[in-house]
Amino acid sequence: TITPVLLCGGSGTRLWPLSRKSYPKQFVPLVGEETLFQASARRLHGTGLGAGGLGFAAPVVLTNAEFRFIVAEQLGQAGIDPGAVLIEPEGRNTAAPILAAALHLAATDPEAVMLVAPSDHVVPDAPAFHAAIERGLGPVSEGRLVTFGITPDRAETGYGYLEIAAPVADGAPQDLVRFVEKPDAARAEAMFGSGAFLWNAGIFMARAADMAAAFRHHAPDLCAPVEAALDRARADLGFLRLDPAAWAAAPDISVDYAVMEKAGNLSVVPFAAAWSDLGGWDAVWRESGPDAHGVVATDGATAIDCRDTLLRSDSDRLEIVGIGLDNIMAIATGDAVLVADMRRAQDVKLAVAALKAKQ
Ligand code: GDD
Ligand code: MG
Repeated sequence: TITPVLLCGGSGTRLWPLSRKSYPKQFVPLVGEETLFQASARRLHGTGLGAGGLGFAAPVVLTNAEFRFIVAEQLGQAGIDPGAVLIEPEGRNTAAPILAAALHLAATDPEAVMLVAPSDHVVPDAPAFHAAIERGLGPVSEGRLVTFGITPDRAETGYGYLEIAAPVADGAPQDLVRFVEKPDAARAEAMFGSGAFLWNAGIFMARAADMAAAFRHHAPDLCAPVEAALDRARADLGFLRLDPAAWAAAPDISVDYAVMEKAGNLSVVPFAAAWSDLGGWDAVWRESGPDAHGVVATDGATAIDCRDTLLRSDSDRLEIVGIGLDNIMAIATGDAVLVADMRRAQDVKLAVAALKAKQ
């Protein structure tokens, strides 16, 4: 079986005002009824899946103290029992939590296979995802770290890029030439244009022991603090609290920079089905099924003669009406309204920064 490792400690500021520091996007039903976290957990749940009878063990969840009850409640609603919920005393980006999960799993079973997944992605075709995971098990059994590659459709600078040596053929895994995290615009343009790169989906699979070994080799400064934080962890109401003093010494860095850009034993499984990281309101608009005019209007919203517009009210008290809008998004919650040019979706994080500065 494969143990899902669910990362859900991020704060998702680009989806303000729905995503809040105390209740970020992964715990909100953004597209559909379930929350992104619930959908992510469910996608990696069950046995006898795929052609080869793929099976998942109970997930290891990594989050911070503030979200621990949301995690427990939402998993309960989805009917999923976590194997462990590790509480991070403070945010340390993704490298430290992934190493903590690897060490935690390797301590009981060095052969354990972990699948690290973000909890804020939309992957509608679960069977296609399971098939990709199955294809990745070959390289995993050879001690490799497996990434999942998305065919890029633009020169996005917010993603990692995976260089491949041969064209993608029926989803077969290949050894990776190079991993480049978040290039600047010029490099992204060049990589996209070359056709030799896929996007990194942000999902990683490896034996726990191999993941830990990659950290020892490429990110040794993370090892002592994370090991100590686990050694001195405290069990508390079903949660495992990592030791705050030890954790504070762990470098704040993502796994992409700390390990993936440096490791020589990466493989990639191409993933051709739909995938979105819902990185902004424009992505939510795209994933919500715009009508023939490109309009998405929720229950509490009405669009008249609009084009390429998202009108979304998550408040019972506020009705939104848009007339003659083009490329506009308006999002209302109980206590805030955002109105913006859809092409500035990535700048919504500026709103959060501006509001913080006013406090
Ligand atoms: N537990 C925990 N603790 N989770 C965290 C923390 C933390 O301190 N910080 C971030 N996360 C979670 C986020 O909630 C998200 O689910 C996941 O880790 C990835 O973090 P992001 O901050 O969203 O990363 P990114 O989108 O900039 O980049 C990564 O994903 C891209 C695809 O979406 C990279 O792996 C890129 O290479 C990749 O292309
Ligand atoms: Mg992300």
